[in-house]
Amino acid sequence: TMLPQIFISAFVLLLPVASGSFPEVYGMGGEPVTLPCSYPESRALSFVCWGRGECASDTCGQTLVWTDGNRINYRTSSRYQINAQLLQGNASLTIDYAYVSDSGLYCCRVEMKGWDGVQTLTTSLQVQPGSNSTRTKGLAIGLSIFVLLLVLVSSLVVANYIFMKKRPGSQSLVAFCVSKIRTLLNKEAAPR
Ligand SMILES: *[C@@H]1O[C@H](CO)[C@@H](O)[C@H](O)[C@H]1NC(C)=O
Repeated sequence: TMLPQIFISAFVLLLPVASGSFPEVYGMGGEPVTLPCSYPESRALSFVCWGRGECASDTCGQTLVWTDGNRINYRTSSRYQINAQLLQGNASLTIDYAYVSDSGLYCCRVEMKGWDGVQTLTTSLQVQPGSNSTRTKGLAIGLSIFVLLLVLVSSLVVANYIFMKKRPGSQSLVAFCVSKIRTLLNKEAAPR
């Protein structure tokens, strides 16, 4: 039948759309990342918006921030900064503190005055987990201490179990050690 061929050609046709057809920007978790978007400086600006997802014909996806060129009219988080040189043709978006979950497609949509004055750009952002972020470090240290304590306690329990098996009916390992230390201290303290 023709079905497998249809599937394969559909897959081959969709492949470039799914990966690598958009300019890629790489960022580190916990650090700022800038998504570029520029337009001709000569044109008067009427509207800029940034959104999550691919640019659609008349929207910038799920809007994160938009401006009329004079002020920020709307933004979903203070992490999103639109470039201050908006009127000089630079509409880049800076995410102040990037998270891994910020990875994905972003749309920059610039509307200029006059007819046919719309420019769109879809960019793919990849945020790698930052190994130097304090949160990751704290988590790693906490986990290490927890594992170390777990190992220590389990080896004590096992040692005590072996000790009790060798000398049935006697005191536990801890009590034995304490009494040994006590006799040692008494001997040291005893006058000659
Ligand atoms: C636009 O501004 C951003 C952030 O200030 C900067 O990193 C970038 O180089 C600028 N792009 C251009 C084309 O000037």
